[in-house]
Amino acid sequence: MSSGLERRSPPSPAGSPRSLRDPVTITLDGEPVLAERGEPVAAALIAAGKLMLARSPKFHRPRGPSCMRAACDGCLARVDETPNVMTCMVAAEAGMAVVSQNRLGPRETDLLRMTDWFFPDGMNHHELFAGIPGVQGVMQAFARRVAGLGRMPAEVEAPRTAARRSADVVIVGAGPSGMAIASRLAEHGRAVELIDDQLAPGGGLTALGSVEARAFDEIYASCMDHATSGRIRIRSGTIAGGMYGRDLLVVGPGGAEVLEARALVLACGAHDGALAFEGNDVPGVMSARAAGWLLARGVLVGKRVVVVTTAGGGPFGASFAAAAQGAAEVTLVQGEPLRIRGASHVKAVVVRDASGKDREHKADAVLVDAPRSPAYELAEQAGATMAHEPRGFVVQTNAGLIGEGIYAVGEMTGTPFEARAITDEAVRVSQVIRA
Ligand code: FES
Repeated sequence: MSSGLERRSPPSPAGSPRSLRDPVTITLDGEPVLAERGEPVAAALIAAGKLMLARSPKFHRPRGPSCMRAACDGCLARVDETPNVMTCMVAAEAGMAVVSQNRLGPRETDLLRMTDWFFPDGMNHHELFAGIPGVQGVMQAFARRVAGLGRMPAEVEAPRTAARRSADVVIVGAGPSGMAIASRLAEHGRAVELIDDQLAPGGGLTALGSVEARAFDEIYASCMDHATSGRIRIRSGTIAGGMYGRDLLVVGPGGAEVLEARALVLACGAHDGALAFEGNDVPGVMSARAAGWLLARGVLVGKRVVVVTTAGGGPFGASFAAAAQGAAEVTLVQGEPLRIRGASHVKAVVVRDASGKDREHKADAVLVDAPRSPAYELAEQAGATMAHEPRGFVVQTNAGLIGEGIYAVGEMTGTPFEARAITDEAVRVSQVIRA
């Protein structure tokens, strides 16, 4: 069975133009960029070679998208006069004006970058020249100009109220775990709302190559069938912002709501493993999952890509390497990234391999596939118990239960990102919810 998961393979070789089915033109700093209508704006910009999109707030170091899921600040830009928009979460529409922020002069050069060179050991701007008459005021004005992100919106939005509503089953996270349990509960006759912040459902499985994604076909197809027949309502582009007792605050295209569900299932997945190494913030350093997600949509992040998989990482790095074959030069390395060469773009990466040997690999993109860290935040707000492991906080459940009427499943509870394990868990927990 094919899942019907939408993907655009095989990828075009790096540097060759993408074939777009429904092209629209957006602009970046006034320059026209072609985009597929509805794809994330950041994906269109990366496809056009605009990897360096933002600047760090204080030292103006170059930043580029690294997560494609609202977890870094590398894609922030002003979009249609709204500042600090995560462009990886916004669908491209004709005429959209994207403007890079926090710079003096062109995006690529930004004269305020000199701040970094003047203060190579860091700067405490709160105390810099504080208390020195005259100089303090000048310094404050300078710091305010240099630091911060974006200007205020062109228009002030009127405050909006959040509607309150009851629901039968609400599931947060439309990755494989959320989809699997949504299907089970729909089959039991429950009315299911499946909430997800991404523009389309599928979560991590949409970042796998078509071969690896096949294992999840049944989960995906079953959920989409139930959605088509109306038993599951999928709400993409909708953010679950916080838990307040049993209330869940969600914000989506239709506005804000406070939902009280008879059964609330958290299937929030996991965050990409972020490693501390020199230059990990240089544009072109990305999570392997993010790059796989882009590749599945016909966007290659580089011509010469090094994928570093650390102990316990996977499956996105190997999946990317297999799927990108023939389109880019990909080197798959097991080890620990030590440092990036390059400041505004990647030139090379030094990796310590399993035998302890350091080796430099030339690259224009470096993908990191490290153990993922459970997305525990909402569960913690709901009062769940956590166990700390090297990869992060893992949500502890009692047969899926974390509080009255609140459940957690999937990677956030330590369940492996494997179709069999996810399906088995969905069967078990859906029985508990029915009981
Ligand atoms: S927040 Fe958009 S790429 Fe990370």
